[in-house]
Amino acid sequence: MADIVALTKELLGEAIILVDKIFPPEYEEEPAKDEIAASLFPEKYEKYFNKTGIRPSLKYWVAISKGKVVGIVGLYNYVFDLADITWLGWYLVSPKARKHGTGTSLLLFAIEEAKRQGKKRLMVYTTDDPEELYSHHFYRKHGFREIGQNPWGPNPELTEFYFELDLMKAQAE
Ligand SMILES: CC(C)(COP(=O)(O)OP(=O)(O)OC[C@H]1O[C@@H](n2cnc3c(N)ncnc32)[C@H](O)[C@@H]1OP(=O)(O)O)[C@@H](O)C(=O)NCCC(=O)NCCS
Repeated sequence: MADIVALTKELLGEAIILVDKIFPPEYEEEPAKDEIAASLFPEKYEKYFNKTGIRPSLKYWVAISKGKVVGIVGLYNYVFDLADITWLGWYLVSPKARKHGTGTSLLLFAIEEAKRQGKKRLMVYTTDDPEELYSHHFYRKHGFREIGQNPWGPNPELTEFYFELDLMKAQAE
C-alpha cells in the first residue's frame, strides 16, 4: 500500500519525471513541472502565477511505494475562482502501480484536504485522450458529475471535459 506524503524538494525531480511521462509537456497548455515546482518555491514563480492566474497557495502530495514516487495529486485555485471551489491538479498513478487502490487513496486524500480547507466543490478537467479516458469512469464512480465540455486548446481534435464533485455530499469510503 502506498503512503501519501506532502511533496518535498527531494521528491520533486522524481515526481516531475513521472508526470511528464503521462502528460508530455509538448501536449499541454502549461508544462506540469512549472505548476508542481511552483508549489514548493512560490517566490520563484511570480511570472508563472501572473501568466496562468493560479494562486501561489497551491499544494501537491505524492504516493510513495517501496521508496519510489508512484502517484501524485494537487489542489490549486485560480484568482478568479469563487471562494468555495478548488481544483484537482496533475493527478495520476504510474501505469505499473495502477489497480491497487493508490488512485483512490490519493483522490480521497485530496477530497478530505479540500473539505479541511472549507471548500464545497472540487473541480477537475480531463480530456478524451485515450490515456485519460478511464478517468471519466473513475471520477463518476467517485461521485463527480460532468458539467461541461470544450475543444482542448493545445489540440482541438480532443475535447476537454469538466467534472465537479459536491464536497458537501462526498463521504469518505
Ligand atoms: C485515474 C487513475 C489515477 C486511477 O489510479 P489507480 O491507482 O489505478 O486507481 P485505483 O487502483 O484506486 O482504482 C482503479 C481500479 O482498480 C480497482 N482496484 C483497486 N485495487 C484493486 C486490487 N487490489 N485488485 C484489483 N482491482 C483493484 C478499482 O476498484 C478500480 O476499478 P474500476 O475501474 O472497476 O472502478 C489512473 O488510472 C491514472 O493515472 N490514469 C491516467 C492519468 C489520468 O487520467 N489522470 C486523471 C485525469 S486528469
